[in-house]
Amino acid sequence: MKNGAKLTDLNPSWWKETIVYQIYPRSFQDSNNDGIGDLRGLINRLDYIAELGVETLWLNPIFSSPNDDNGYDISDYRNIMDEFGTMEDFEELVREAKKRNLRILMDLVLNHSSDEHAWFHQARKSKDSPYRDYYYWKESTENGQEPNNWVSYFAPSAWEFDEQTQEYYLHIFSRKQPDLNWENPQVRQEIYDIMHFWMNKGIDGFRLDAFVLISKDLDFPDCQESDLEEGLSRFYGNGPRMHEFLQELHQEVISKYDMMTVGEGAGINSEEAILFTDPQRKELHMIYHFDHMTIDKQPGQFFLLKDFDLTTFKKIITDWDQVVQEGGWNAVFLGNHDFPRILSRFGNDGVYKKEAAKLLCILLLTQRGTPFLYYGDEIGMSNVPWESLDKFRDIYVFDGYEKHLKARGSEKEFLQNLKHTARDNGRTPMQWNTSLNAGFTDGLPWIEVNPNFEEVNVETSLSDPDSILNFYKKMIQFRKSNSILVYGDYQDLCPEHPSLFIYSRKMKDEAILVVLNMSEKTEEYSIPNTLKVEKCIISNYHGLPKKVDQILALRPWEARIYEASLVKL
Ligand code: NOJ
Repeated sequence: MKNGAKLTDLNPSWWKETIVYQIYPRSFQDSNNDGIGDLRGLINRLDYIAELGVETLWLNPIFSSPNDDNGYDISDYRNIMDEFGTMEDFEELVREAKKRNLRILMDLVLNHSSDEHAWFHQARKSKDSPYRDYYYWKESTENGQEPNNWVSYFAPSAWEFDEQTQEYYLHIFSRKQPDLNWENPQVRQEIYDIMHFWMNKGIDGFRLDAFVLISKDLDFPDCQESDLEEGLSRFYGNGPRMHEFLQELHQEVISKYDMMTVGEGAGINSEEAILFTDPQRKELHMIYHFDHMTIDKQPGQFFLLKDFDLTTFKKIITDWDQVVQEGGWNAVFLGNHDFPRILSRFGNDGVYKKEAAKLLCILLLTQRGTPFLYYGDEIGMSNVPWESLDKFRDIYVFDGYEKHLKARGSEKEFLQNLKHTARDNGRTPMQWNTSLNAGFTDGLPWIEVNPNFEEVNVETSLSDPDSILNFYKKMIQFRKSNSILVYGDYQDLCPEHPSLFIYSRKMKDEAILVVLNMSEKTEEYSIPNTLKVEKCIISNYHGLPKKVDQILALRPWEARIYEASLVKL
């Protein structure tokens, strides 16, 4: 171990040290030219992933699905989606990944199934079906209304009336994603069995989709706010049996394997988070939070932008670091399949795109917590310039459009915002080379390729020593060989500055100083006298500064890492 520090008390674990690479299989690599990425395509790209240096893959759902929400509506949890291939392909993927020391996390959708799942087919047949209680059913109110006023993410109401049995079923997401009733012990047992099934296939863990929703307030009170985020944490989810369910899941499944679980913690705040990841409580290994994901959005609005404020962003990171200080653990991410591209959102996809992409790479890989990289960010993929609705594919966009028109009436405003907020920005095909469809498919891609692929692609990046991709490779190795970056204490050194993000990571008497200028202006920073800064070891501009001045002048989007030691005053 470098840095001469000891890791006592830090409970070192592979899942803390690993670097995760998230793949949206639909958009990664197509092998049969149907325009949809698949497992064989992914197998063919494993060498690329291994050479990048990451160690764990998270695959968005690959189970059988009618794809109302791109796989987050599962119709058979023990089968592979037709478009993605077969179980034999999956088994080969696991074998080939293991040969390259790559671990695999599956994406387990445990709050809802598809309405095309056999359970739901049975459940909706009659009120007496043994599967009826796998889902939430309610009668209409006395005056013939929905059971309560809950809004769905992908529909106007979270309740859908079922003609056959004359009751409503609950769906927090689309009508085709009925919520599973975790109060029913049989449902919980089904989920545990499914988890064992996949663990026995040789995977290394799960990302738990929308786990916050599994325990609900069974009084089903009306939601007082129109704010969905607020609804999520106070009404729809995080209910009274949440921790009990997770502890049972831990005992039934997690405790039996050397595995990793990461919960998608939308609606969880930093004070509650420790309850989920404190190892003594035996729940999950880590959760990832959404506090920084709502920072540039108008309250309760997924599609409407507001200005990004760096001081708020820094405060969120500091607050969440408290979870680690108290013995829990965090996942660290800047983007995924539910958000636009990080370069366009937190960086600069114009003149400083190369510098900004490298800066974000430093930011992600020098935080405390397990870093999650999202496919394509390593080559600097950015948002798409689409002007019309027909380019988009996401159910959330179409529902958002209807809701927006009803509430505000302006199509123009919605489309303008979509360019910066739509999830499809982050779902376009991986850009491999300059050939047809960026080398993703010879067929018609299910979603258009970003037109910038001739400039931004893997092949071109590999041959450029100064590329974003080669910088990612260097930073990944740097993180892997410096455990101070995994475990060392985190401190924000200038929380109030509107465009500089300066922080230290410390272990024993050693430190690493990270200086990031997240603006297009040159900014100055005085190194505090508590740190003795030795030398600059990484920079996103050409050449490393030879000498260390006490006052640093940082050029637009400049990022540097310094080796330092602590000064005892
Ligand atoms: C969270 C997933 O990340 C998102 O893509 C999906 O739409 C919802 N959960 C519903 O499963």
